[in-house]
Amino acid sequence: MRRLLVATLATALTLAGGALPAQAAPTPGGAGLGDDYFPDYGNSGYDVSHYDVRLRYYPGEDRLTGTTTILAAATQDLSSFHLDFVLDVASVKVNNRPATFTREGDHELVVTPPRAVTQGQTMTVVVQYSGVPSNKVAAGYTAWTRTADGALAVGQPEIAWWWFPSNDHPSDKATFDVSVAVPDGVEVLSNGVMPRNPTQDILGWKRWSWRSLHPQATYLAFLAIGQYEITRDTTAGGQQVINAYSELLPQDFEDAAKASVERTAEVVDWGSSIFGPYPFEAQGGVVGPPGALGFALETQTRSVYSSGFFRSGANMSVVVHENAHQWFGDSVSVERWKEIWLNEGFASYAEWLWSEEQGEGTTQEIFDYLYATQPADFWTIAPGDPGAAEIFSGAVYDRGAMTLHQLRLAIGDDDFFELLRTWAAEHKDGDANTAEFIALAEKVSGQQLDELFQDWLYTPSKPAVEGVSALAR
Ligand code: ARG
Ligand code: ZN
Repeated sequence: MRRLLVATLATALTLAGGALPAQAAPTPGGAGLGDDYFPDYGNSGYDVSHYDVRLRYYPGEDRLTGTTTILAAATQDLSSFHLDFVLDVASVKVNNRPATFTREGDHELVVTPPRAVTQGQTMTVVVQYSGVPSNKVAAGYTAWTRTADGALAVGQPEIAWWWFPSNDHPSDKATFDVSVAVPDGVEVLSNGVMPRNPTQDILGWKRWSWRSLHPQATYLAFLAIGQYEITRDTTAGGQQVINAYSELLPQDFEDAAKASVERTAEVVDWGSSIFGPYPFEAQGGVVGPPGALGFALETQTRSVYSSGFFRSGANMSVVVHENAHQWFGDSVSVERWKEIWLNEGFASYAEWLWSEEQGEGTTQEIFDYLYATQPADFWTIAPGDPGAAEIFSGAVYDRGAMTLHQLRLAIGDDDFFELLRTWAAEHKDGDANTAEFIALAEKVSGQQLDELFQDWLYTPSKPAVEGVSALAR
């Protein structure tokens, strides 16, 4: 689902002009969506509304087989279109008819239906495939992680390519059904709710089903397959909480992980009191096997954590960070990857707010500490346009949060928190960019804020702070 500005404008012009446009020949869809950082991520010419991903996974061989069915609508007259994918494709059907397909670059699957699809027409695309995801390299690496007991499909911005064909860009969100058959005794975790308990598959196998009811960016879809202990809870609001802990965790890691992730419902309730209603139908967290993952990810409704976060005891910061992303990053997605500070700056600032609330250091103390201690090269990265190689740099996180703190000081607490809630509400289940955030901040506060954002987001040097010399500290 994506805002169809181009199509709408074209229709408006046609109506205004009164004349019917000349019948143009259908043209190929593009291999990208115009993302300045990742020009060949996502594809143009269609808009996906739903993915049905139905797989079978053989843990011993890291082998995946199955079918993804995509419901989409053409946004132009299409002679062919691209999907982003790396596994081995056996067949593609478009609207029930066999389509031909070829590969381009390291992750493009080019599909040519037997007859062109016209603008506005819905397409049902069925891709049958198989492969060993851990054998596939694209964008210079393998995002799929094979573990001792299964696998993790968790990554940003690249991960979908290794397990389902997609329009792989956060500006085209869709609902998901994911089901995976695995040998008895293996668990499968994914996003959202379980519409039914695991069912008997072929002899010795069980099929697990998961459903995401809200539009979800492709990189926020995940799989965790292996030996997991699953815990369940229900929030006061009646939402399902499903957490999972790798059975491979040593006892001390498991205890520290549970002392953090079992508090997910509390964190979500706390977030709701600040950011507005929790945007999704379910929640939880998954803690992977030791050494399997070097980061955590805000996978929609159910974040995935590296066990490393729980090395030395409970870690509420990471739980707060990933759950804050459910509002900022997941429900409100980046329209382009350069806007990543709208995710990371906000999730980091949530950690500061939690810290203050827990009596562990105020937001001002955290700001002052970072302002005083960050090395010179930290200030050379502008969080509002960090560059493709720096989307996860400390500046995006910490200077992004510092930007929000300066904004809060400038407009006051009432306007600042109203702004956060309005932002989450206005862009719920959608996507957004920084210009829209600045415009909303100016509207809510009645202040001119261009200079503040210019200094904090877009200038590759250390901004001055009133009463503090940038050089003195
Ligand atoms: N968005 C994640 C977080 O802030 C970070 C993901 C880092 N990804 C990576 N491939 N290193 O929690
Ligand atoms: Zn983050």
